[in-house]
Amino acid sequence: MDRRNFLKVLCAGTMTLFLSGCGLAAVEDKAVAKNISEGDKMKIVVINGSPHADSESTSKYLSQRFTEGAKSAGHEVFTFDAAKEDINPCQGCDACGMDGDCIFNDAIANKLMPKMLEADLLVLVTPLYYFGFSAQLKTVIDRFYSRTGKLHGKKSIILATAWNTADWTFTALKNHYETLVRYMEWQDVGQVYGTGCGYRSAVEKSAFGDAAYKIGAAL
Ligand SMILES: Cc1cc2nc3c(=O)[nH]c(=O)nc-3n(C[C@H](O)[C@H](O)[C@H](O)COP(=O)(O)O)c2cc1C
Repeated sequence: MDRRNFLKVLCAGTMTLFLSGCGLAAVEDKAVAKNISEGDKMKIVVINGSPHADSESTSKYLSQRFTEGAKSAGHEVFTFDAAKEDINPCQGCDACGMDGDCIFNDAIANKLMPKMLEADLLVLVTPLYYFGFSAQLKTVIDRFYSRTGKLHGKKSIILATAWNTADWTFTALKNHYETLVRYMEWQDVGQVYGTGCGYRSAVEKSAFGDAAYKIGAAL
């Protein structure tokens, strides 16, 4: 199915739900951050998973708004754009032994991992791709493997956007994120799931940008 047909199917499903009057989530904002830094300056790493340009991406709009909020509260933000970097997927070779150097000497190993290891808070940002993380972001997540134990204890946030508006749009991604948080022994401090945000003007007009800003500003 090409992109146009995929979006057509999503639109048709959305319209059916709309006409049947059930399950439309106008705003699904699970923001929970409330001054969790207790006034200390936090080190934050934002990992963007969209291949779209900064000015066109809907999920990066949420991370831009989050970053504005976090910086306004005095926190330090490092941003890694997975789609712009030369990165490699985990080969499952176990050369790292889950606590060692990866065989790949790439941007994840050199640029991102050192920042992640010293960060207080990790922000996962993704467009919804077939009800999960984008491949770009999942590539980064799989590479957590080389330092799984050392990444325990961080705080985390997810910011995501999707075309669809059905109330089950983000069910699988939310389950995946919350399972990851549990396994990584993280503390979830905010979730924004932008339904009906399939293009930039839609997310800009929605309430999700303000939700992302407020999470950052409230840290
Ligand atoms: C490969 C691909 C898969 C997608 N899968 C879904 C999906 O499962 N559900 C949905 O609602 N939207 C889906 N979409 C639409 C995107 O999630 C949506 O357009 C999003 O706003 C893109 O965010 P971005 O601009 O940050 O990349 C998909 C788009 C692409 C290109």
